[in-house]
Amino acid sequence: MQLIHLFRLALLSLAILSVTPAFAADAESTPPPYYKWKIENYAINSPLNNLIGDAKRGQEIAGNQSRGNCLACHLLPIPEEQFFGNLGPPLTGIGSRQSVGMIRLHVVDQSRFNPETVMPGYYRPPSQLNRVAKELEGRTWLNAQEIEDVVAYLASLK
Ligand code: HEC
Repeated sequence: MQLIHLFRLALLSLAILSVTPAFAADAESTPPPYYKWKIENYAINSPLNNLIGDAKRGQEIAGNQSRGNCLACHLLPIPEEQFFGNLGPPLTGIGSRQSVGMIRLHVVDQSRFNPETVMPGYYRPPSQLNRVAKELEGRTWLNAQEIEDVVAYLASLK
């Protein structure tokens, strides 16, 4: 009797384990295409894949902990957010201090300004990343559209 019970339990746990979590299914999908960029005078002047950024979406991505999470390190003028990190400089008014192209390079690959930076490179070539988890292979931190949205948002901070 007890053996049967154990056997049932084992079957049940097998059934639970074989359920693929949603994120794993997502990770198995093909990574989005990667668009190359070019640096001129500490700036990436052309938008990635000529995409047009949306500042409102950019603010959401910058504030979202599982996307850009910029506010873990930067002060941003988002009234609904209470907590900001200060590892990085405040980004308030960045749009009047820097060109759009320079802002884009900061977001794409801050290590081009400071090789020792703690800031993640949000659109570094996936081929340059080492030791990435299998499900992250071929992927960038943010996709090209998300980069352009964040850049449009920062450029709007005058
Ligand atoms: C882990 C901390 C961290 C995170 C997360 C982070 N940054 Fe940074 N960022 C920094 C630091 C530190 C610097 C200052 C320069 C340096 O040390 O590399 C910086 C510099 C910058 C600069 C240049 C500012 C200037 O005045 O020159 C921009 C623009 C910027 N970050 C944007 C962003 C955006 C947008 C995000 C989110 C998508 C982000 N950062 C996420 C740490 C971070």
